Amino acid sequence: MAILKLLINLGLIFTVMAIPTNKDSSNDSVQKVDEDSNNNSAINYRLPDNVVPIHYNIKLMPHIEENNFVFIGESNVNITIRHVTQNLSLHALELIINKTVISLFDNNGTVYTLATHNYDNITQILVLNFNNKLLPGNYTLKMRYVGILHKDLKGFFISSYTNEKGNNMWLAATYFEPTYARRAFPCWDEPALKATFDISIKHHRNYTALSNMPIREQSKDYNEDGMIWTHFDTTPIISTYLVAFVLVADYVRVPTKDETINIWCRSKLVPDTKFAQEVVQKSKRLLTEYTNSIYKVPKMDLVALPQFISGAMNNWGLITFLERKLTYNENLDTVFTKLEVAGTIIHGMAHQWIGNIVTPLWWSHLWLSEGFSSFFEIYIFNEIFEDWRITEYFVVNIQREILYSDIGMLMNPITLEVNTLEEIESLFSGSIYRKAPAILRMLQHIITNEIFQSGLIKYLHTHQFNSATSDDLWNALQAVLDKSDAPYNTYKLKEIMDTWIKQSDYPVVHVTRNSDNNKIIITQEHFLQNENKNISDNKWWIPLTFVTQTNPDFSNTLPTHWLKPQDQYITIDGIDPNDWIIVNIQQMGYYRVNYDSSNWQKIMNYLQSDNYTKIHPLNRAQIIDDAFFFMILGEHDIMMFLNLIDYLSEEIDFIPWYSIFQVLRFSEDILKVPENEFLKSRMLEILDGFIKNIGYEEDPTDDELTKLQRTETLKWACTLGHSECKRMATIELNKHFADPKTYKVSPDLKEWMYCNGLMEAKAFTWNKI
Ligand SMILES: *[C@@H]1O[C@H](CO)[C@@H](O)[C@H](O)[C@H]1NC(C)=O
Ligand SMILES: *[C@@H]1O[C@H](CO)[C@@H](O)[C@H](O)[C@H]1NC(C)=O
Ligand SMILES: *[C@@H]1O[C@H](CO)[C@@H](O)[C@H](O)[C@H]1NC(C)=O
Ligand SMILES: *[C@@H]1O[C@H](CO)[C@@H](O)[C@H](O)[C@H]1NC(C)=O
Ligand SMILES: *[C@@H]1O[C@H](CO)[C@@H](O)[C@H](O)[C@H]1NC(C)=O
Ligand SMILES: *[C@@H]1O[C@H](CO)[C@@H](O)[C@H](O)[C@H]1NC(C)=O
Ligand SMILES: *[C@@H]1O[C@H](CO)[C@@H](O)[C@H](O)[C@H]1NC(C)=O
Ligand SMILES: *[C@@H]1O[C@H](CO)[C@@H](O)[C@H](O)[C@H]1NC(C)=O
Ligand SMILES: *[C@@H]1O[C@H](CO)[C@@H](O)[C@H](O)[C@H]1NC(C)=O
Ligand SMILES: [Zn+2]
Repeated sequence: MAILKLLINLGLIFTVMAIPTNKDSSNDSVQKVDEDSNNNSAINYRLPDNVVPIHYNIKLMPHIEENNFVFIGESNVNITIRHVTQNLSLHALELIINKTVISLFDNNGTVYTLATHNYDNITQILVLNFNNKLLPGNYTLKMRYVGILHKDLKGFFISSYTNEKGNNMWLAATYFEPTYARRAFPCWDEPALKATFDISIKHHRNYTALSNMPIREQSKDYNEDGMIWTHFDTTPIISTYLVAFVLVADYVRVPTKDETINIWCRSKLVPDTKFAQEVVQKSKRLLTEYTNSIYKVPKMDLVALPQFISGAMNNWGLITFLERKLTYNENLDTVFTKLEVAGTIIHGMAHQWIGNIVTPLWWSHLWLSEGFSSFFEIYIFNEIFEDWRITEYFVVNIQREILYSDIGMLMNPITLEVNTLEEIESLFSGSIYRKAPAILRMLQHIITNEIFQSGLIKYLHTHQFNSATSDDLWNALQAVLDKSDAPYNTYKLKEIMDTWIKQSDYPVVHVTRNSDNNKIIITQEHFLQNENKNISDNKWWIPLTFVTQTNPDFSNTLPTHWLKPQDQYITIDGIDPNDWIIVNIQQMGYYRVNYDSSNWQKIMNYLQSDNYTKIHPLNRAQIIDDAFFFMILGEHDIMMFLNLIDYLSEEIDFIPWYSIFQVLRFSEDILKVPENEFLKSRMLEILDGFIKNIGYEEDPTDDELTKLQRTETLKWACTLGHSECKRMATIELNKHFADPKTYKVSPDLKEWMYCNGLMEAKAFTWNKI
């Protein structure tokens, strides 16, 4: 059981947490609570449904002045009161609202006066109580307030950098998702409470103001020297968290040829935006084609910020990035950075066509925006750069990694009831960014890409400028599926998909052969439901695909069988007893597969034959990783695993090799144990051929995957103590320092060369460094 613990620990390490929920330390400058709310569970964090916002008119006057980073705000919000009430509830955080000028008036010009107000600093809800009954109808709520330009990069924030002249430059920008719009203006800050927005910003003319929409008008304010107002066009109907504005002083605008997309960055980064230009234009075209929708945003700005709380924020028409997730310099940056840049851009673009158009009804369904963006990040990436094999890389890198974390209920299910602010923030995690795209890929293969695409278009069309739940997605897909002649059109997608999105973990599929009648028996298991945890026995709807030795066709990923939750087992007949069987073609299903030892043996023998390439690289990778996993679980012994991976000495494809690197990453601790010298030396033996094949130097003709492959291979070879690898690092390092002009260091090999080369470097090189 110690092994099981280790696995859980490994799982913990690999559980991905995106945004930390650290409380900010700034002054509590909002109104105080008038009454103590009864603690905990009874707290209602949701706004009542008696009021909906229709239109916000927001004017902001930020002071970008040291020691006085505040802003003055003025808002006029058109609201509809739906039921008679005497109070209005809305969100605000760290805003000092001037109570004396709060006013509410209806369309007949009647003004209603504020009686009392109270603020709950737990729910961040401000309640305005009026003297009179407010009848259903349209009203305007007017407010003036002062807010803080925060330094913690949330809400409306201030940030700085040193420009090329050595001056400290200030910039202001926003980050609202999920609950920080309320830090910039009082609002109904829930994703479903959408409205249109008129944003106006007063700023010094040295600054450029950007927001979701194009500029409608700029005008001077004659009272103050150098100050101007920038007024932006009215937005479409959008959620509060998608509103954004940015104020930058000496930024450069880099437009695309057709002038519809601008990249904004510091001047020195302009040359590094070339790659982003390519990705942004191609992804725009492909996303428009895939969703069959004309672009819903009249313009698009991508802004590179020196400091940012995440990789990027997908605001409507204004995507804000951390600089190094938008810029790529081929002389300095690694291939890994290049992949990240492309992925981050495509992800942000995908939001504009999908998750921003139809937002989740509530954060519980966050995966409808983030999961789809993460899925299209891979899908569109693969369309743009077909030969990079990014889908396969996703499977061996992300999907396989998450299979190590998504066990023992360590990760949340994809959809989850959330209420508190902490719960909402905790959603932005691996379940949504890593598991959800794997589940969507599985779905795409189950119903075919054609139905997946038509269903998505239907979903977007039905709910555009509105919000949706997971069931709305299943309904749209089901409608298209029902009309099709696809083989599963009698199945209820909701029933199938709920087992994947509402439950943690994943099944292990057991494949055994009954030697008496030669039937293949397939069962599912929710493993790890023991130990000291009270883990429910989950069951899934499992799509099955398989391949046998006599018919090794790995191209058809449409399921031929289903293992349903209520099935104790299913059987497959008519397979040659001498054949191996491999289940889960191209790893389209989100599960692991274990076989009986005789089938493992057959697979092993086949891998060791010249025919091994007939097994799809993704299935070679799957076999290695599953074999390792079940070995760790104690289901088969280490020799079986080592014999299996022996074939790798012939393997030249990076995808199966990546599985071994993953295994090494997980077993680094195991390998450090002296008794495992044997394991280590076997690993070194099989690595040797692969290193010779890939070499120690970058070739200008190498593609992206080859570069990545070399970096990973050399890193692990040296870690395991491959002497030639270490020696070469030293040689390359010495060569570089002796003549840096001729012997440039490839960014991809830098870490390998320095880390390993330095260990044995001569004084000359050492001193240079
Ligand atoms: C809090 O407010 C006090 C007085 O208004 C000020 O001196 C202090 O710098 C503020 N602290 C923060 C973290 O803003
Ligand atoms: C908002 O209310 C004002 C009156 O206060 C009205 O003039 C304006 O047309 C309204 N805007 C919208 C979008 O309803
Ligand atoms: C607001 O008014 C409604 C009905 O008018 C009432 O039910 C509710 O308790 C009030 N809420 C607060 C916070 O005063
Ligand atoms: C609130 O607004 C009134 C009227 O404009 C003004 O006299 C007062 O100084 C303001 N209060 C604060 C705290 O800004
Ligand atoms: C809310 O206000 C109370 C009383 O002023 C204070 O003790 C508490 O720390 C505040 N909580 C938060 C989350 O700001
Ligand atoms: C405005 O006046 C009309 C006609 O008197 C009335 O029917 C309507 O309810 C009033 N609107 C509001 C919001 O009170
Ligand atoms: C209130 O505003 C909404 C949205 O602008 C509009 O559809 C509705 O007709 C208005 N209702 C009244 C009574 O003016
Ligand atoms: C505006 O830019 C000019 C020229 O670069 C500079 O001299 C001036 O100090 C700037 N003013 C502000 C308020 O930033
Ligand atoms: C385990 O969970 C089940 C249902 O989820 C519950 O009925 C049972 O009481 C729990 N047992 C323990 C020991 O917590
Ligand atoms: Zn996203």
